[in-house]
Amino acid sequence: MAPMKILLTGAGGQIGTDMLPILVARGDEVLAFDLAPRPDTCPAEVEWMRGDITYAEEVDSAVERFQPDRIFHLAAILSAVGEGVPHRAWRVNMEGTRHVLEAARLFGVDQVFFTSTIAAFGPGLEQPVGDNVALRPTTMYGLTKVAGELLGEYYEHTFGIDFRGVRFPGLINAGIPGGGTSDYALFMYVDGMRSGRYESFCTPESMIPFMYMPDAIRAVLELSDAPKASLGQSIYNIAAMSPTAQEIADAVKARIPQVELTFKPDPMRQAILDSWPEALDDTNARRDWNWKHEFDLAAMSDDLMPQLKALIEAAGVPA
Ligand code: SER
Repeated sequence: MAPMKILLTGAGGQIGTDMLPILVARGDEVLAFDLAPRPDTCPAEVEWMRGDITYAEEVDSAVERFQPDRIFHLAAILSAVGEGVPHRAWRVNMEGTRHVLEAARLFGVDQVFFTSTIAAFGPGLEQPVGDNVALRPTTMYGLTKVAGELLGEYYEHTFGIDFRGVRFPGLINAGIPGGGTSDYALFMYVDGMRSGRYESFCTPESMIPFMYMPDAIRAVLELSDAPKASLGQSIYNIAAMSPTAQEIADAVKARIPQVELTFKPDPMRQAILDSWPEALDDTNARRDWNWKHEFDLAAMSDDLMPQLKALIEAAGVPA
């Protein structure tokens, strides 16, 4: 694929932080759009623009000036934080997505890539959960993601924008997540390494789909680059693993034997977890654009540990 111009919203978040160097390595020209100031981790080649997705004029001016070929729309308020500030989650997720799509229409962007989620689903579905089931989420985050999927499809059939996206599992990387309900998994690794202990806010039996960040980023790039003619739908489930919280704890303990990992369910976050799928069926992604995950729980844990150690040592926190 020839290098292109990509505008990344939410570039300072958990996904964007890891995606920026990968886009730069591909030779893409990148405009990073985020409310936060430029972080030290941002590669020098990337232009960083501070902007608020909830103001149409700020999104418009970024898109008009940069003229991206594609927008990867990552900016969102996640599920756990969103339940504390539901109206703000509506503005950021709903209005933000509308502003991105509208700017793409106004300034002729070829493709808008949307990052949806397991939170788009509600309780009571047959496992593993397929793409085309009733979407009845119980969180503000989930309902704004469902509406974002539908709005993007509206822009596709009404205005001809190439709209595509994935429903991500909970994502794990050597970083800090942004207030999701899936964060317990990441914190078992990060705090297990950093502090020697972590208390998960869920039961040991809790089971939702997870994915390691390198797989997640590869999924975005592969679906974004896939020929449109091969795609039978715009939004795809993608899957990698579905460990229980206890199985994640066991994987961490196998690598940090002295770690103390305990469980104290928080009613609000446990209810969200219980409303989400235990496992996703991603047959359509595997068929249409050859999606295939690389990392299972063991491979992810092996890859993650040395990175976390380096990160924590670099930041001066005792490992
Ligand atoms: N990781 C997200 C969350 O927990 C799910 O998409 O909110």
